[in-house]
Amino acid sequence: MLGNFAYCNPTKLYFGEESLQYLNTELPKYGKNVVLVYGGGSIKKNGIYDEVLEILNKNGKNVAEISGVMPNPTLEKLYEGVEIARNHKVDLLLAVGGGSVCDYSKAVSVSVHCDEDPWEKYYLKFEEPDCEIIPVGCVLTMVGTGSEMNAGAVITNHESRMKIGHVFADENIMPRFSILNPKYTLTLPHYQMVSGIYDIFNHICEQYFSGEDDNTSDYISEGLMKSLIHSSRIANKNDQDYEARSNIMWTATWALNTLVAKAKSTDWMVHMLGQAVGAHTDATHGMTLSAVSLPYYRYIMPYGLAKFKRFAVNVWDVDASGKTDEQAALEGLAAMESWMKELGLVMNLSELGATSDMVEEIADSTLVMDGGYKILDHNEIVKILRESL
Ligand code: NZQ
Ligand code: ZN
Repeated sequence: MLGNFAYCNPTKLYFGEESLQYLNTELPKYGKNVVLVYGGGSIKKNGIYDEVLEILNKNGKNVAEISGVMPNPTLEKLYEGVEIARNHKVDLLLAVGGGSVCDYSKAVSVSVHCDEDPWEKYYLKFEEPDCEIIPVGCVLTMVGTGSEMNAGAVITNHESRMKIGHVFADENIMPRFSILNPKYTLTLPHYQMVSGIYDIFNHICEQYFSGEDDNTSDYISEGLMKSLIHSSRIANKNDQDYEARSNIMWTATWALNTLVAKAKSTDWMVHMLGQAVGAHTDATHGMTLSAVSLPYYRYIMPYGLAKFKRFAVNVWDVDASGKTDEQAALEGLAAMESWMKELGLVMNLSELGATSDMVEEIADSTLVMDGGYKILDHNEIVKILRESL
């Protein structure tokens, strides 16, 4: 393994069908004033809201609410939530929802006691907080982002058409605890379930397709990918299969809880392309990734051929004998493509509302990362986006 690193992940996880009861263990550790954060109402329909509120009341908490956190949470919504949290003198932000609600709560947590504008400080200057951070707890209802055990918080600014993720370095921004009950994910629409599955898969790819060194992380990643492919096929046929959904939930957490990125370089260019598309279309996160992935991977494949061949053999069981490295690698990407189609993922940007005349602007707002096999220039980004249309 190359590199030096520190590793600390302070998020305490409670996993399984009985996990919500552990909210009773966690709540006494924090002050009285809790702000309950949730989305557009799914938790009211499936009963999770009532269950959580009952536990909050039983623990004598003084509860305020931030509701209506939308998928791809906006800067306006962040300002609104910061006001509510300040007025309530919040001691704990309890996020009940998916990645959007969890990310949003982290963004509120670093903004409540911040004197500067959070967009300017955290999303344009990428600074770390120098104020008190409000603790965040999470009850996860949608699987994919890994937000339940990481310090990422993605916010969309519609005015400047920018969707920016800040992965904070300070581990105190990670949720203090997360409750992972696979049953809570069973009411997710199929579209959201498969979108989340691809988000997980791509998180692993982003950390796998980079570097030439031999490292433990790549072996862990291959195991996670194999488990995900297996369980996704079961869940795609029967989305009420608890075992498959619980494996997917656990894989999502490990795919992006900082572990597999340790001691290796990472790529993240599919996410940069997907986020730029998201800023212009407000499309579902995982689907923005599926739409750009194959044109991107086929383009960079020659620059990282050995890893793409390894991916084909170790993840997709391609028999490489008698084939050139390129043939084997392409077979791996073809296997990935047929799995994506089997799940019913969005395979082109047009389906998400992107049009040919938007391509230049999307390319302009794509952040370029330098950890992958090829550092893209503007023309290459345009070419990949056009192929994704
Ligand atoms: O708002 P409600 O009514 O709750 O409905 C949500 C939402 O419409 C619904 N949903 C969630 N749980 C449900 C449910 N519907 C029925 N039953 C349930 N149990 O699902 C929809 C999508 O939810 P959302 O939270 O937006 O999805 P996701 O978890 O994919 O989060 C997406 C956000 O996370 C960011 C994305 O960019 C996007 O803004 N990401 C965060 C990352 C991180 N923290 O590290 C990394 C990711 O790459 C990603 O960028
Ligand atoms: Zn993602």
